[in-house]
Amino acid sequence: MKSQRGNFRSKFGVVLATAGSAVGLGNVWRFPFMTGQNGGAVFIIVYIICILLLGIPGMVGEFIIGRHSQSNAARAYATISRYRWWGFVGVLGIITSSIILGFYAVVAGWCLHYLGASAIGHLQGDSTYVTSYFQQHSTNVVKPAFMAVVFIGITHFVIVRGVESGIERASKVLMPLLFILLLVLVGAACSLPGAMQGVEFLLKPDFSKFTSNVFLEALGQAFFSLSLGTACLCTYASYFSRDTNLMRSASQIALVDCLTAVLAGLMIFPAAFSVGIQPDSGPSLIFITLPTVFQQAFAAMPIVGQVISIMFYALLVFAALTSTISLHEIGTAFFHEEFHIKRSYAAWIITVLCSSLAIACSLSVGGAAHLQVMGMSLMNFCDFLTAQIMLPLGAMLTCVLLGWFVKTKIIRNEITNWGTLRGSLYRSFLFNVRYVVPICILLILMHQLGVI
Ligand code: TRP
Repeated sequence: MKSQRGNFRSKFGVVLATAGSAVGLGNVWRFPFMTGQNGGAVFIIVYIICILLLGIPGMVGEFIIGRHSQSNAARAYATISRYRWWGFVGVLGIITSSIILGFYAVVAGWCLHYLGASAIGHLQGDSTYVTSYFQQHSTNVVKPAFMAVVFIGITHFVIVRGVESGIERASKVLMPLLFILLLVLVGAACSLPGAMQGVEFLLKPDFSKFTSNVFLEALGQAFFSLSLGTACLCTYASYFSRDTNLMRSASQIALVDCLTAVLAGLMIFPAAFSVGIQPDSGPSLIFITLPTVFQQAFAAMPIVGQVISIMFYALLVFAALTSTISLHEIGTAFFHEEFHIKRSYAAWIITVLCSSLAIACSLSVGGAAHLQVMGMSLMNFCDFLTAQIMLPLGAMLTCVLLGWFVKTKIIRNEITNWGTLRGSLYRSFLFNVRYVVPICILLILMHQLGVI
């Protein structure tokens, strides 16, 4: 089994792939609109606290389970302790990641469409035009659903053809490029008239905007962005080598992820305030704001604006692809290894299921507005269900499993790489996964359910 698994992903570069999974639409699309809906700077503060206190320990937890077991999510959770029924957390993670892939692909499809639209110059116009352009596109019955399926198809191709190593190599260049382009766009957005109001919104906390909802949303965003809570990190960590430093890798990935998100915010809000787009516009926020940045900030040199716009959407599509690969891989590895079917068949199962969900999600935003659950469109419901309930639940159960059911020797060995690293963080890690993470998440979830 092990040698067969080695084929799929070169050991080298797998930490990079994990970072690729973390950085994606969660940073550039979801983070800005969540921040906009939850009061700006206050949200960011709570988000960073969630990452430090709950996110990093949660990541290390999944890394330990994955690297120790060297198998797919369900088996990893089932075999790390004496209690095989813990495997259900792995299965829960597989279900969660498939739901995420369903709605994530719709947004990735929007980006793909915007890549084409900016290349042929369809995105040029004032902010009213750009807003109605997005409206028209996203509520179209066929096109966005088709694009979402295309996106899942590309993901399927990469996974089945085993060209992940090529993707990893490319991401070594493209990820830093995305980061640099974000920096350029932050500069461009901040040069727009009235931009400072947006910077203030992001950096100057207004504590009157603090509501209990902020906590839940920030927690969900932190987990979503770190790819935490679906055993996705666990699946990737099963390919880590014995000398990967788990603590350091988790901290580095979290740092890169957080920086990318904050940069995306610094790019969106100054521009949004400058042209009078409401910060709480929701999921459409980046799609109605960005075209304005490309045009207005580069008004003197329109061609530069267009080239930058094409580059930006291309890099965003790439970042989304490295994330959808990770979401797809969890289920594919599970079906392939547990049911002994060919990888390509296993991948087809996930592709068909997720494409169906993606079509339904896409329709729920436009063509079939009656596709609603609990008063939300199916798309928003899937986002809510996964980010705010299933991810925190998955991360909490992972920590309970590690803290209370797994031999501490395993944890110590994994954290210290069998005694070769200093173990000073081991005790605080154990305390965190035993008490801090489960109690905090439990309180937040109980609050959500109205119990407290
Ligand atoms: N973290 C990714 C992003 O920010 C999305 C993602 C990939 C994800 N794999 C995941 C989210 C697993 C939750 C769980 O875009």
